[in-house]
Amino acid sequence: MDLELTEEQRLVQETARTFAREEVLPRAAELDRTHTHPKELVQRMAELGLMGVAVAEEWGGSGLDTLSYVLAMEEISRACASTGVIMSVNNSLVCDPLAKFGSDEQKSEFLRPLAAGKLLGCFALSEPDAGSDAAAQKTTATRASPEGDGGWVIQGIKNWITNGPVADVCILFTMSDRTKGVKGITAFILPMNTPGVRCGPPDRKMGIRASQSCQIFLDEVRLPDRLRLGEVGGGFQVAMATLDGGRIGIAAQALGIARAAFEDATAYALDRKTFGQPIAKHQAIQWKLADMATEIDAARLLTWRAATLKDQGVRFTAEAAMAKVFASEAANRAAKEAVQIFGGNGYVEDFPVERHYRDAKITEIYEGTSEIQRLVIASNLLKE
Ligand code: CAA
Repeated sequence: MDLELTEEQRLVQETARTFAREEVLPRAAELDRTHTHPKELVQRMAELGLMGVAVAEEWGGSGLDTLSYVLAMEEISRACASTGVIMSVNNSLVCDPLAKFGSDEQKSEFLRPLAAGKLLGCFALSEPDAGSDAAAQKTTATRASPEGDGGWVIQGIKNWITNGPVADVCILFTMSDRTKGVKGITAFILPMNTPGVRCGPPDRKMGIRASQSCQIFLDEVRLPDRLRLGEVGGGFQVAMATLDGGRIGIAAQALGIARAAFEDATAYALDRKTFGQPIAKHQAIQWKLADMATEIDAARLLTWRAATLKDQGVRFTAEAAMAKVFASEAANRAAKEAVQIFGGNGYVEDFPVERHYRDAKITEIYEGTSEIQRLVIASNLLKE
Protein backbone atom coordinates (compact mmCIF):
# COMPACT_ATOMS: atom_id res chain seq x y z
CA MET A 1 0.00 0.00 0.00
CA ASP A 2 1.54 3.27 -1.13
CA LEU A 3 0.49 6.48 0.64
CA GLU A 4 3.12 8.62 -1.12
CA LEU A 5 1.74 11.35 -3.36
CA THR A 6 3.11 11.58 -6.88
CA GLU A 7 5.17 14.60 -7.84
CA GLU A 8 2.19 15.95 -9.80
CA GLN A 9 -0.17 15.53 -6.82
CA ARG A 10 2.34 17.25 -4.51
CA LEU A 11 2.57 20.13 -6.96
CA VAL A 12 -1.23 20.55 -7.02
CA GLN A 13 -1.29 20.47 -3.21
CA GLU A 14 1.52 23.03 -2.93
CA THR A 15 -0.05 25.34 -5.54
CA ALA A 16 -3.46 25.20 -3.82
CA ARG A 17 -1.87 25.67 -0.38
CA THR A 18 0.10 28.74 -1.40
CA PHE A 19 -2.91 30.30 -3.14
CA ALA A 20 -5.15 29.50 -0.16
CA ARG A 21 -2.72 30.93 2.39
CA GLU A 22 -1.79 34.06 0.47
CA GLU A 23 -5.00 35.01 -1.33
CA VAL A 24 -7.99 33.20 0.22
CA LEU A 25 -7.30 33.18 3.97
CA PRO A 26 -6.78 36.96 4.30
CA ARG A 27 -10.28 37.53 2.85
CA ALA A 28 -12.21 34.68 4.49
CA ALA A 29 -13.51 36.47 7.60
CA GLU A 30 -14.66 39.54 5.68
CA LEU A 31 -16.38 37.47 2.96
CA ASP A 32 -18.19 35.55 5.69
CA ARG A 33 -19.22 38.67 7.58
CA THR A 34 -20.58 40.35 4.45
CA HIS A 35 -22.08 37.22 2.81
CA THR A 36 -20.11 38.10 -0.35
CA HIS A 37 -19.60 35.74 -3.29
CA PRO A 38 -15.80 35.68 -3.85
CA LYS A 39 -15.90 36.42 -7.59
CA GLU A 40 -12.19 37.28 -7.91
CA LEU A 41 -11.12 34.17 -5.99
CA VAL A 42 -13.25 32.00 -8.29
CA GLN A 43 -11.56 33.70 -11.23
CA ARG A 44 -8.14 32.95 -9.71
CA MET A 45 -9.14 29.31 -9.11
CA ALA A 46 -10.08 29.11 -12.79
CA GLU A 47 -6.62 30.45 -13.75
CA LEU A 48 -5.01 27.81 -11.51
CA GLY A 49 -7.06 25.02 -13.12
CA LEU A 50 -9.07 24.30 -9.97
CA MET A 51 -12.59 24.57 -11.43
CA GLY A 52 -12.31 21.34 -13.45
CA VAL A 53 -9.43 19.52 -11.79
CA ALA A 54 -10.27 15.97 -12.91
CA VAL A 55 -11.82 16.88 -16.28
CA ALA A 56 -9.82 15.85 -19.35
CA GLU A 57 -7.76 18.62 -20.92
CA GLU A 58 -9.59 18.17 -24.24
CA TRP A 59 -12.77 19.28 -22.43
CA GLY A 60 -11.24 22.32 -20.76
CA GLY A 61 -10.11 20.71 -17.49
CA SER A 62 -6.73 20.12 -15.87
CA GLY A 63 -6.64 16.42 -16.74
CA LEU A 64 -5.64 15.39 -13.20
CA ASP A 65 -7.08 12.71 -10.91
CA THR A 66 -9.67 12.73 -8.12
CA LEU A 67 -6.97 12.60 -5.44
CA SER A 68 -5.52 15.85 -6.83
CA TYR A 69 -9.00 17.37 -6.65
CA VAL A 70 -9.32 16.25 -3.01
CA LEU A 71 -5.90 17.67 -2.11
CA ALA A 72 -6.83 21.04 -3.60
CA MET A 73 -10.28 21.02 -1.95
CA GLU A 74 -8.71 20.45 1.49
CA GLU A 75 -6.34 23.38 1.04
CA ILE A 76 -8.96 25.84 -0.25
CA SER A 77 -11.46 24.81 2.47
CA ARG A 78 -8.79 25.11 5.16
CA ALA A 79 -8.67 28.81 4.26
CA CYS A 80 -12.36 29.39 3.42
CA ALA A 81 -15.05 26.72 3.48
CA SER A 82 -17.36 28.89 1.34
CA THR A 83 -14.82 29.17 -1.46
CA GLY A 84 -14.31 25.41 -1.07
CA VAL A 85 -17.94 24.53 -1.70
CA ILE A 86 -18.17 26.84 -4.74
CA MET A 87 -15.24 24.91 -6.22
CA SER A 88 -16.68 21.57 -5.15
CA VAL A 89 -20.11 22.10 -6.74
CA ASN A 90 -18.57 23.14 -10.05
CA ASN A 91 -16.14 20.19 -10.10
CA SER A 92 -18.20 17.37 -8.61
CA LEU A 93 -21.82 18.20 -9.24
CA VAL A 94 -21.62 19.94 -12.60
CA CYS A 95 -18.48 18.99 -14.56
CA ASP A 96 -18.51 15.37 -13.39
CA PRO A 97 -22.04 14.46 -14.65
CA LEU A 98 -21.42 16.36 -17.90
CA ALA A 99 -18.21 14.40 -18.43
CA LYS A 100 -19.92 11.11 -17.57
CA PHE A 101 -23.36 11.45 -19.14
CA GLY A 102 -23.04 14.33 -21.65
CA SER A 103 -22.87 13.96 -25.43
CA ASP A 104 -19.86 15.40 -27.27
CA GLU A 105 -22.03 18.36 -28.35
CA GLN A 106 -23.07 19.00 -24.74
CA LYS A 107 -19.47 18.69 -23.54
CA SER A 108 -18.30 21.10 -26.18
CA GLU A 109 -20.98 23.68 -25.40
CA PHE A 110 -21.07 23.38 -21.58
CA LEU A 111 -18.32 21.24 -20.07
CA ARG A 112 -15.47 23.03 -21.80
CA PRO A 113 -16.28 26.53 -20.44
CA LEU A 114 -17.39 25.17 -17.04
CA ALA A 115 -14.22 23.13 -16.49
CA ALA A 116 -12.12 26.11 -17.57
CA GLY A 117 -13.96 28.28 -15.05
CA LYS A 118 -15.36 30.60 -17.73
CA LEU A 119 -18.86 29.63 -16.58
CA LEU A 120 -20.05 28.61 -13.11
CA GLY A 121 -22.45 25.74 -12.46
CA CYS A 122 -25.06 24.69 -9.94
CA PHE A 123 -26.95 21.44 -9.26
CA ALA A 124 -30.69 21.50 -8.63
CA LEU A 125 -32.03 18.30 -7.08
CA SER A 126 -33.50 19.43 -3.73
CA GLU A 127 -37.01 20.83 -3.51
CA PRO A 128 -39.23 22.08 -0.68
CA ASP A 129 -40.56 18.50 -0.33
CA ALA A 130 -37.62 16.52 -1.72
CA GLY A 131 -34.44 16.69 0.40
CA SER A 132 -33.29 13.37 1.85
CA ASP A 133 -36.07 11.71 -0.15
CA ALA A 134 -34.56 12.88 -3.42
CA ALA A 135 -36.87 10.72 -5.54
CA ALA A 136 -39.95 12.70 -4.39
CA GLN A 137 -39.46 15.24 -7.22
CA LYS A 138 -42.40 17.55 -7.88
CA THR A 139 -40.78 19.69 -10.58
CA THR A 140 -42.33 18.41 -13.79
CA ALA A 141 -40.96 18.08 -17.31
CA THR A 142 -43.70 17.64 -19.90
CA ARG A 143 -43.26 17.06 -23.60
CA ALA A 144 -44.17 20.30 -25.38
CA SER A 145 -45.89 18.40 -28.20
CA PRO A 146 -47.51 14.95 -28.22
CA GLU A 147 -45.06 13.75 -30.90
CA GLY A 148 -42.24 14.50 -28.52
CA ASP A 149 -40.15 16.59 -30.92
CA GLY A 150 -40.99 20.02 -29.56
CA GLY A 151 -38.81 19.85 -26.47
CA TRP A 152 -39.93 20.10 -22.86
CA VAL A 153 -41.81 22.46 -20.57
CA ILE A 154 -40.50 22.59 -16.99
CA GLN A 155 -42.49 23.76 -13.99
CA GLY A 156 -41.45 23.72 -10.34
CA ILE A 157 -39.33 25.01 -7.46
CA LYS A 158 -35.83 24.02 -6.38
CA ASN A 159 -34.42 24.68 -2.90
CA TRP A 160 -31.03 25.45 -1.30
CA ILE A 161 -29.24 25.63 -4.63
CA THR A 162 -25.57 26.33 -3.92
CA ASN A 163 -24.14 28.82 -6.48
CA GLY A 164 -27.74 29.42 -7.69
CA PRO A 165 -27.65 33.25 -7.57
CA VAL A 166 -24.33 33.39 -9.45
CA ALA A 167 -24.51 30.34 -11.74
CA ASP A 168 -24.59 30.36 -15.54
CA VAL A 169 -25.62 26.71 -15.98
CA CYS A 170 -27.67 24.31 -13.87
CA ILE A 171 -27.85 20.52 -13.82
CA LEU A 172 -31.60 20.19 -13.27
CA PHE A 173 -33.65 17.19 -12.15
CA THR A 174 -37.33 16.81 -12.99
CA MET A 175 -40.16 14.31 -12.83
CA SER A 176 -41.07 13.46 -16.43
CA ASP A 177 -43.30 10.45 -15.68
CA ARG A 178 -44.76 10.20 -12.20
CA THR A 179 -46.16 6.69 -12.86
CA LYS A 180 -42.62 5.35 -13.07
CA GLY A 181 -41.31 6.59 -9.68
CA VAL A 182 -37.50 6.90 -9.63
CA LYS A 183 -37.45 5.67 -13.23
CA GLY A 184 -39.55 8.70 -14.18
CA ILE A 185 -36.88 11.29 -13.28
CA THR A 186 -35.06 13.06 -16.12
CA ALA A 187 -32.03 15.38 -15.95
CA PHE A 188 -31.45 18.51 -18.07
CA ILE A 189 -28.77 21.10 -18.67
CA LEU A 190 -30.45 24.42 -17.95
CA PRO A 191 -28.81 27.69 -19.02
CA MET A 192 -29.76 30.03 -16.17
CA ASN A 193 -30.70 32.83 -18.56
CA THR A 194 -33.51 30.74 -20.07
CA PRO A 195 -36.85 32.64 -19.94
CA GLY A 196 -38.97 31.52 -16.98
CA VAL A 197 -36.00 30.89 -14.64
CA ARG A 198 -35.97 33.13 -11.56
CA CYS A 199 -33.76 33.02 -8.47
CA GLY A 200 -35.15 33.90 -5.07
CA PRO A 201 -33.12 36.05 -2.65
CA PRO A 202 -29.89 34.46 -1.34
CA ASP A 203 -30.49 32.28 1.75
CA ARG A 204 -29.36 33.84 5.06
CA LYS A 205 -27.28 30.99 6.40
CA MET A 206 -25.65 30.04 9.72
CA GLY A 207 -22.31 29.22 8.05
CA ILE A 208 -20.54 29.13 4.67
CA ARG A 209 -22.01 32.60 4.29
CA ALA A 210 -19.86 33.62 1.33
CA SER A 211 -21.34 30.74 -0.65
CA GLN A 212 -24.57 31.97 -2.16
CA SER A 213 -27.57 29.65 -2.32
CA CYS A 214 -31.21 30.29 -3.19
CA GLN A 215 -34.50 28.89 -4.37
CA ILE A 216 -34.93 28.61 -8.13
CA PHE A 217 -38.41 29.13 -9.57
CA LEU A 218 -39.11 27.47 -12.92
CA ASP A 219 -42.19 28.83 -14.64
CA GLU A 220 -43.03 27.34 -18.03
CA VAL A 221 -39.35 26.98 -18.86
CA ARG A 222 -38.92 25.61 -22.39
CA LEU A 223 -35.93 23.41 -23.07
CA PRO A 224 -35.05 21.65 -26.32
CA ASP A 225 -34.51 17.90 -26.12
CA ARG A 226 -30.81 18.39 -26.99
CA LEU A 227 -30.40 19.78 -23.42
CA ARG A 228 -31.58 16.53 -21.83
CA LEU A 229 -28.69 14.96 -19.88
CA GLY A 230 -28.73 11.17 -20.16
CA GLU A 231 -31.74 9.01 -20.87
CA VAL A 232 -35.38 9.95 -20.37
CA GLY A 233 -36.06 8.36 -16.95
CA GLY A 234 -32.33 8.05 -16.21
CA GLY A 235 -32.11 11.18 -14.08
CA PHE A 236 -32.09 9.51 -10.66
CA GLN A 237 -29.10 7.44 -11.63
CA VAL A 238 -27.37 10.61 -12.87
CA ALA A 239 -28.12 12.27 -9.51
CA MET A 240 -26.98 9.35 -7.35
CA ALA A 241 -23.80 8.65 -9.33
CA THR A 242 -22.97 12.35 -9.23
CA LEU A 243 -23.54 12.57 -5.48
CA ASP A 244 -21.19 9.62 -4.91
CA GLY A 245 -18.40 11.83 -6.28
CA GLY A 246 -19.77 14.95 -4.61
CA ARG A 247 -19.55 13.30 -1.20
CA ILE A 248 -15.80 12.84 -1.68
CA GLY A 249 -15.54 16.59 -2.34
CA ILE A 250 -17.52 17.41 0.82
CA ALA A 251 -15.38 14.99 2.84
CA ALA A 252 -12.35 16.98 1.62
CA GLN A 253 -14.08 20.24 2.50
CA ALA A 254 -14.78 18.91 6.03
CA LEU A 255 -11.16 17.85 6.28
CA GLY A 256 -10.08 21.40 5.45
CA ILE A 257 -12.40 22.85 8.11
CA ALA A 258 -11.16 20.32 10.69
CA ARG A 259 -7.57 21.22 9.90
CA ALA A 260 -8.32 24.91 10.23
CA ALA A 261 -9.85 24.28 13.67
CA PHE A 262 -6.91 22.12 14.72
CA GLU A 263 -4.18 24.44 13.45
CA ASP A 264 -5.79 27.56 14.90
CA ALA A 265 -6.38 25.82 18.25
CA THR A 266 -2.81 24.50 18.40
CA ALA A 267 -1.30 27.93 17.70
CA TYR A 268 -3.55 29.49 20.35
CA ALA A 269 -2.75 26.77 22.91
CA LEU A 270 0.97 27.38 22.48
CA ASP A 271 0.50 31.12 22.98
CA ARG A 272 -2.22 31.49 25.63
CA LYS A 273 -1.05 31.13 29.24
CA THR A 274 -3.00 30.05 32.32
CA PHE A 275 -1.61 29.06 35.72
CA GLY A 276 1.82 30.25 34.64
CA GLN A 277 2.27 28.22 31.46
CA PRO A 278 0.92 27.86 27.90
CA ILE A 279 -2.38 25.98 27.98
CA ALA A 280 -0.80 23.46 25.56
CA LYS A 281 1.12 22.18 28.62
CA HIS A 282 -2.13 21.17 30.33
CA GLN A 283 -3.13 17.57 29.77
CA ALA A 284 -6.80 18.54 29.28
CA ILE A 285 -5.81 20.55 26.19
CA GLN A 286 -3.30 17.96 24.94
CA TRP A 287 -5.98 15.27 24.87
CA LYS A 288 -8.24 17.47 22.79
CA LEU A 289 -5.44 18.21 20.30
CA ALA A 290 -4.45 14.53 20.14
CA ASP A 291 -8.02 13.45 19.36
CA MET A 292 -8.40 16.15 16.72
CA ALA A 293 -5.15 15.18 14.98
CA THR A 294 -6.00 11.47 15.04
CA GLU A 295 -9.48 11.98 13.60
CA ILE A 296 -8.16 14.30 10.89
CA ASP A 297 -5.68 11.64 9.80
CA ALA A 298 -8.40 8.96 9.78
CA ALA A 299 -10.74 11.21 7.79
CA ARG A 300 -7.97 11.94 5.29
CA LEU A 301 -7.24 8.24 4.78
CA LEU A 302 -10.94 7.47 4.16
CA THR A 303 -11.20 10.39 1.73
CA TRP A 304 -8.07 9.43 -0.19
CA ARG A 305 -9.28 5.83 -0.42
CA ALA A 306 -12.64 6.88 -1.87
CA ALA A 307 -10.88 9.18 -4.36
CA THR A 308 -8.51 6.41 -5.42
CA LEU A 309 -11.38 3.96 -5.94
CA LYS A 310 -13.20 6.54 -8.08
CA ASP A 311 -10.14 6.86 -10.30
CA GLN A 312 -9.88 3.07 -10.54
CA GLY A 313 -13.36 3.02 -12.06
CA VAL A 314 -14.84 0.66 -9.45
CA ARG A 315 -18.01 1.30 -7.41
CA PHE A 316 -17.17 3.60 -4.49
CA THR A 317 -20.66 4.48 -3.17
CA ALA A 318 -20.14 3.10 0.36
CA GLU A 319 -16.55 4.35 0.66
CA ALA A 320 -17.59 7.88 -0.37
CA ALA A 321 -20.40 7.81 2.21
CA MET A 322 -17.98 6.57 4.89
CA ALA A 323 -15.51 9.34 4.08
CA LYS A 324 -18.25 11.98 4.13
CA VAL A 325 -19.93 10.90 7.37
CA PHE A 326 -16.63 10.47 9.23
CA ALA A 327 -14.93 13.62 7.96
CA SER A 328 -17.99 15.81 8.55
CA GLU A 329 -18.50 14.54 12.09
CA ALA A 330 -14.76 14.83 12.81
CA ALA A 331 -14.87 18.44 11.56
CA ASN A 332 -17.77 19.21 13.90
CA ARG A 333 -15.97 17.67 16.89
CA ALA A 334 -12.74 19.50 16.00
CA ALA A 335 -14.47 22.86 15.58
CA LYS A 336 -16.38 22.41 18.87
CA GLU A 337 -13.15 21.61 20.75
CA ALA A 338 -11.35 24.50 19.06
CA VAL A 339 -13.98 26.91 20.40
CA GLN A 340 -13.53 25.34 23.84
CA ILE A 341 -9.74 25.74 23.70
CA PHE A 342 -10.16 29.42 22.75
CA GLY A 343 -12.61 29.87 25.66
CA GLY A 344 -14.30 33.29 25.61
CA ASN A 345 -12.18 34.26 22.62
CA GLY A 346 -13.68 31.33 20.73
CA TYR A 347 -17.14 32.84 21.01
CA VAL A 348 -16.43 36.16 19.33
CA GLU A 349 -15.90 37.09 15.68
CA ASP A 350 -12.43 38.54 16.31
CA PHE A 351 -11.03 34.99 16.22
CA PRO A 352 -11.60 32.46 13.41
CA VAL A 353 -12.86 29.41 15.29
CA GLU A 354 -16.50 30.49 15.66
CA ARG A 355 -16.56 30.60 11.81
CA HIS A 356 -15.13 27.08 11.61
CA TYR A 357 -17.81 25.93 14.10
CA ARG A 358 -20.60 27.45 11.98
CA ASP A 359 -19.07 26.26 8.69
CA ALA A 360 -18.56 22.68 9.88
CA LYS A 361 -22.26 22.07 10.54
CA ILE A 362 -23.37 22.11 6.90
CA THR A 363 -21.01 19.26 6.00
CA GLU A 364 -23.25 16.94 8.07
CA ILE A 365 -26.28 18.09 6.08
CA TYR A 366 -25.70 18.79 2.39
CA GLU A 367 -25.05 16.18 -0.30
CA GLY A 368 -26.85 13.75 2.00
CA THR A 369 -27.19 14.06 5.78
CA SER A 370 -25.16 11.86 8.14
CA GLU A 371 -28.30 9.75 8.56
CA ILE A 372 -28.53 9.23 4.77
CA GLN A 373 -24.81 8.33 4.59
CA ARG A 374 -25.37 5.64 7.23
CA LEU A 375 -28.36 4.31 5.23
CA VAL A 376 -26.20 4.18 2.09
CA ILE A 377 -23.36 2.40 3.95
CA ALA A 378 -25.73 -0.10 5.55
CA SER A 379 -27.61 -0.86 2.33
CA ASN A 380 -24.29 -1.58 0.60
CA LEU A 381 -23.11 -3.76 3.51
CA LEU A 382 -26.32 -5.75 3.50
CA LYS A 383 -26.43 -6.34 -0.27
CA GLU A 384 -26.21 -10.01 -1.20
N1 CAA B 1 -25.28 5.14 -8.14
C1 CAA B 1 -26.05 4.74 -9.18
N2 CAA B 1 -27.34 4.36 -9.03
C2 CAA B 1 -27.86 4.41 -7.79
C3 CAA B 1 -27.12 4.81 -6.67
C4 CAA B 1 -25.77 5.18 -6.88
N3 CAA B 1 -25.00 5.59 -5.86
N4 CAA B 1 -27.90 4.76 -5.57
C5 CAA B 1 -29.09 4.33 -5.98
N5 CAA B 1 -29.07 4.11 -7.32
C6 CAA B 1 -30.14 3.58 -8.15
C7 CAA B 1 -30.53 2.20 -7.58
O1 CAA B 1 -29.72 1.19 -8.15
C8 CAA B 1 -31.98 2.09 -7.99
O2 CAA B 1 -32.07 1.67 -9.34
P1 CAA B 1 -32.58 0.17 -9.72
O3 CAA B 1 -34.00 0.12 -9.23
O4 CAA B 1 -32.42 0.12 -11.21
O5 CAA B 1 -31.68 -0.76 -8.97
C9 CAA B 1 -32.49 3.52 -7.92
O6 CAA B 1 -31.33 4.35 -7.99
C10 CAA B 1 -33.26 3.78 -6.66
O7 CAA B 1 -32.43 3.48 -5.55
P2 CAA B 1 -33.00 3.43 -4.07
O8 CAA B 1 -34.19 2.51 -4.03
O9 CAA B 1 -31.87 3.14 -3.15
O10 CAA B 1 -33.52 4.93 -3.90
P3 CAA B 1 -34.24 5.65 -2.71
O11 CAA B 1 -35.39 6.43 -3.23
O12 CAA B 1 -34.49 4.70 -1.59
O13 CAA B 1 -33.14 6.76 -2.24
C11 CAA B 1 -31.26 7.60 -1.08
C12 CAA B 1 -31.89 6.46 -1.90
C13 CAA B 1 -29.84 7.11 -0.84
C14 CAA B 1 -31.93 7.86 0.25
C15 CAA B 1 -31.25 8.90 -1.95
O14 CAA B 1 -32.53 9.44 -2.06
C16 CAA B 1 -30.30 9.96 -1.43
O15 CAA B 1 -29.09 9.90 -1.67
N6 CAA B 1 -30.85 10.97 -0.71
C17 CAA B 1 -30.05 12.15 -0.31
C18 CAA B 1 -30.12 13.19 -1.38
C19 CAA B 1 -28.97 14.12 -1.34
O16 CAA B 1 -27.82 13.75 -1.11
N7 CAA B 1 -29.24 15.37 -1.66
C20 CAA B 1 -28.20 16.35 -1.77
C21 CAA B 1 -28.67 17.50 -2.58
S1 CAA B 1 -27.40 18.27 -3.51
C22 CAA B 1 -26.56 19.27 -2.45
O17 CAA B 1 -26.69 19.20 -1.27
C23 CAA B 1 -25.60 20.18 -3.12
C24 CAA B 1 -25.12 21.30 -2.30
O18 CAA B 1 -25.86 22.13 -1.83
C25 CAA B 1 -23.69 21.48 -2.14
